[in-house]
Amino acid sequence: MRAGHQATGPGAITPDGCAVELYSRLPVGTEPDVIASAVPAGAHILELGCGVGRVTHPLLERGFTVTAVDESPAMLERVSGARTICSPIEDLDLGEQFDVVMLGSFLVHAGDVEVRQALLRACVRHVAPAGCVLIQREGEDWHNDVPRERVDPSGFTVRIVSSEPAGDGAHSVHAEYEFPDATWTQTFLSRPLAREQFEEILTEAGLKVDRYLTDDRTWVRAVPAA
Ligand SMILES: C[S@@+](CC[C@H](N)C(=O)[O-])C[C@H]1O[C@@H](n2cnc3c(N)ncnc32)[C@H](O)[C@@H]1O
Repeated sequence: MRAGHQATGPGAITPDGCAVELYSRLPVGTEPDVIASAVPAGAHILELGCGVGRVTHPLLERGFTVTAVDESPAMLERVSGARTICSPIEDLDLGEQFDVVMLGSFLVHAGDVEVRQALLRACVRHVAPAGCVLIQREGEDWHNDVPRERVDPSGFTVRIVSSEPAGDGAHSVHAEYEFPDATWTQTFLSRPLAREQFEEILTEAGLKVDRYLTDDRTWVRAVPAA
């Protein structure tokens, strides 16, 4: 388990506390539409932290080619139709460049600054000079608006129970996913990043914001700064 991450619930759990069975049940939202609106048709997408392919599969259906990366073999077993690579993102060095590199699921908020820097370096290493990096970041009041819950129409409830300072600017977030027949919990470290801080860390990594893709600025299209 990665430091500061814990989880409970049935089935295999990834080093960052994600449950494979839970992610197999979660429906996809607007992510594929947001992504499709920001990249050329038929682009080759390097998806970092793909999980079971919740977003990968709709992207394949839309005609994109996807290389899907995750450090969990149990997650990758459920991905079909994409080339899969089992690796920590930090260590990934494929010697290839992609039209699009995608760092979704708020991974840019890694609690450990060195991990975050390594994630962004992996994005920069793999993006083509004329390509883009799509990043999903947390909403502005994400850590203040707690506790909160959302009842999904498909029949489960997700709760962000708490977000407590855990030292050095990181927060420990506790989440619960309650289904009629199973409950999963996840505790993970997340480093809040206001818009200015987020843009600064992109600059440090050699990227710049091209545009925000959603009104809440949670999806970002970044490009190489040089
Ligand atoms: C929250 S899940 C989301 C999965 C998928 N992106 C989705 O939206 O359904 C995060 C996934 O990223 C993977 N992951 C997290 N940090 C990683 C890292 N540093 N290197 C490789 N995989 C990582 C986990 O194993 C997990 O499958």
